Amino acid sequence: MTSPSVIYSIEMGRLVFLFASSLLLMVAATTVSAAIVEHSFNVQNLTVNRLCNRHVITAANGRLPGPSIRAREGDTLIIHVFNKSPYNLTIHWHGIHQMLSAWADGPDMITQCPIRPGNKYTYKFKIIKQEGTFWWHSHTSTLRATLYGAIIIRPRAGSSYPFPKPYREVPILLGEWWNGNVVDMANQALAHGTGPNISDAYTINGWPGDLYPCSQNQMYKLKVKQGKTYLLRITNAAVDNNLFYKIANHKMIVVAVDARYTNPYVTDVLVVASGQTIDVLLTADQPIGSYYMAARAYASAAGLEFDSTTTRGVIVYEGAPSWTSRTPLIPVLPAFNDTPTAHKFSTSLTALVGGPHWEPVPLKVDHKMFVTIGMALDVCPSNTTCQGPPVGAKLSASMNNVSFVPPSSLSLLQAFFFNVRGVYTTDFPVKPPVQFDYTNPSINGDRPLLFAPKGTRITKLKFNSTVEMVMQNTAIIGAENHPMHLHGFDFHVLAQGFGNFNPATDTLKYNLFNPQIRHTIGVPVGGWAVIRFVANNPGVWFMHCHFDGHLPIGLATAFVVENGPTPETTLPPPPVDLPQC
Ligand code: C2O
Repeated sequence: MTSPSVIYSIEMGRLVFLFASSLLLMVAATTVSAAIVEHSFNVQNLTVNRLCNRHVITAANGRLPGPSIRAREGDTLIIHVFNKSPYNLTIHWHGIHQMLSAWADGPDMITQCPIRPGNKYTYKFKIIKQEGTFWWHSHTSTLRATLYGAIIIRPRAGSSYPFPKPYREVPILLGEWWNGNVVDMANQALAHGTGPNISDAYTINGWPGDLYPCSQNQMYKLKVKQGKTYLLRITNAAVDNNLFYKIANHKMIVVAVDARYTNPYVTDVLVVASGQTIDVLLTADQPIGSYYMAARAYASAAGLEFDSTTTRGVIVYEGAPSWTSRTPLIPVLPAFNDTPTAHKFSTSLTALVGGPHWEPVPLKVDHKMFVTIGMALDVCPSNTTCQGPPVGAKLSASMNNVSFVPPSSLSLLQAFFFNVRGVYTTDFPVKPPVQFDYTNPSINGDRPLLFAPKGTRITKLKFNSTVEMVMQNTAIIGAENHPMHLHGFDFHVLAQGFGNFNPATDTLKYNLFNPQIRHTIGVPVGGWAVIRFVANNPGVWFMHCHFDGHLPIGLATAFVVENGPTPETTLPPPPVDLPQC
């Protein structure tokens, strides 16, 4: 390309460099422009008041949630992360494919070593054939509890949404809050072998809302005009919980999930698994007044303790009397364990065939996998006391009986790129070591797969090969809806169901026409889900449960995707400032 003409402009407080390539302008009659959107994240301690106390948290640019990133499809993002916090950290751009930019993906020890305190790293990547609601978060320990923010990718200039243009767009980030130092708590839980600590609150755009102590004035408020339609970009940024979300007296029309357009689906309740995003159209079609929005846990596991509190925000119509003087209408949320409601919602969504960035289901499968996902146990190291269930063991988790451990000396991606042996093996099993009645709850105790060996066993894939994975939840320790997230790709969800996957009958139920496309799926509790994706992006791609409590105990694996045949399908070398271990 010839040297681009550069235009500087200030847009919403950000510096935007507009590159209009004169060469491309000559070739194509249409205006081709792509911007470079540049941000600096200063990550450091921040003191905030929440739930009656002062807390020191780790935050970006002194904000909770952190800064929002706004760009268009085709833009290049450059984010300078200055780590002025006391912790090692990385940032992940959740849902962004990182086509040929795996070095910018961010999971700790998977694509990079962490940024040490006092150091910086610049994440640089292009948004290719993706638009919608994404988010960013720290991918080290539990820091993402307070280190996260929205990424909004709008269609290219001249392109539009496949639905009527909304009057306003509103990011809704659902979060989770602990009264205490989240890193210390996570380390303690790991050492003791217990599950994650129960949180103290959920939040909407950082605010807990008026059901919590000292939080009357710490509530998210959305002002609306009667008759107007709003695009709510909803993200479940909670750390250890799937959530129900509802607005009093209003229906919502789902138009996208995980930044993939869907057929419009009308509903009054959403279930958002941890890591998922849902875009809905909300029309302010009710009498002038105030209406609560609320979120609380969808807790699928029987007998497991969880944070049963509710976060609320308020929608206030223009012209309504002050919402504090009249009690807003309250939405009635489903019961915590309302799996039928969650399942109905999750299985009713279908892709918008022929819409922007839609891709058909690949019909030829190269790599078939049947993967058990769920909890396990680990032996207590001698001279320590573990308090996990049962006492004398540590809580663990696995995929196909492999409990994933990240490397400690070099990231997987560096080991792959520089051909360093001994960091990982490519023998992740395509099926569990034994077959059993996976979802039978009476299968517990000294059962198959109760103890899962630790390992860094991953799957090697040829460039452009198609993977089909059946994810089968087990009842070991306890069945639970695990939000499984794949980096680097979106996948088609061909089918979901309860009990044990039966290839003879369930294969016939595959939707090969318009299945929803996602990057995160809540695998039905005591059930299964089948996904398919094309490995067209060279690099190392993490796949894991998006509950932070389950990631460090092993509910994860990774794919290493080889380079393609051409320079355009080959991963470039790492940037010079890639953090060293
Ligand atoms: Cu949002 Cu690897 O995760």
